[in-house]
Amino acid sequence: MINRIVETYPPAKLNLFLEVLGKRADGFHELDTVMMAIDLRDSMRVELTEESVVDLECRWMPSEAVWCWHLVNDRLNDGKRTKSLELPAPEHNLVYRALVRFKEKIDVTPGFRVILEKHIPAGAGMGGASSDAASVLLAAAKLCGIEQSDSRIVELAAELGSDVPFFLGVNSGISCQPVVTGGLARARGRGEILENLTSTSSRHFVIVYPPEGLSTAEVFKNCRPAAEPRNASSLVSALGGAATSEQLAGLFFNRLTAPARRLSQWIDHTLDAIRAAGLRGGMMTGSGSACFAIASSAIVARRTARRLACKRLGICFATKSVSLPAPIRFLT
Ligand code: C5P
Repeated sequence: MINRIVETYPPAKLNLFLEVLGKRADGFHELDTVMMAIDLRDSMRVELTEESVVDLECRWMPSEAVWCWHLVNDRLNDGKRTKSLELPAPEHNLVYRALVRFKEKIDVTPGFRVILEKHIPAGAGMGGASSDAASVLLAAAKLCGIEQSDSRIVELAAELGSDVPFFLGVNSGISCQPVVTGGLARARGRGEILENLTSTSSRHFVIVYPPEGLSTAEVFKNCRPAAEPRNASSLVSALGGAATSEQLAGLFFNRLTAPARRLSQWIDHTLDAIRAAGLRGGMMTGSGSACFAIASSAIVARRTARRLACKRLGICFATKSVSLPAPIRFLT
């Protein structure tokens, strides 16, 4: 018998706005954030196996050597190999944990073998691990003939991480009726309470990932919640209207920038480089360390990313907004 295999391409995200409203009793922080899925994707193959195992193989693409070449900066990093390339042991990977919890919660006997190829930087605030976890839940659901909007999948996603529900593209609505959230959402709570937002057009971005990643937990630990919180409403209306990229850029915000700057010199270097390249509204995404700016077109994004890449300040990407969830395709 040939085992069934699916493939999918989990996308990254950018936080266009992120306000920290307060610290909660459970140790998490109450957020008001606007997230947008972008077309920078990992690649994942999931095979349903007769043997009741969870097996994960994970590697950097095109290779760890290429990532190293881009991320070792002799001038500012003493030529040190960045810690962000150290992949966790398979059993600590969120994809592995997602499948173990899926097997327990859905009570399925077969196992899963996963090959995960990483294109999304780690410790970047781009949600790579969360997106992989959401995609593997959707892939496992498809392989087992379970509705992707099944409330158990949505519950598992929230349990695995604050950003995971966003990548499912659905949210548990009233009476657990799935609410489609798509690729642009406002998130509250610790990030798991989602409201669908609409955008009138696709948007283009330049992203710079510096040679040093940041730990989400560490950045949150060092942040002070806002005394006078900012509100995402102006950005939300602008995204739904006919705002230009310049107008949107003026509404980007991230409360976690201050603690991230204290933890890494790279945030200032990266934001300075983005500004010097002529882009407006340079902003850090999530808990960093990647920073981005909006570009007026795909051509401008590509040209600026190429120019920034020459400065050897990390890895530069030109990308655009995409919808969610990432499609799951049967290979066999
Ligand atoms: O939910 P996730 O596992 O991605 O969070 C990683 C860490 O970031 C948490 O353990 C917590 O320390 C911090 N965090 C937070 N408030 C949030 C999200 C994350 O304090 N809303």
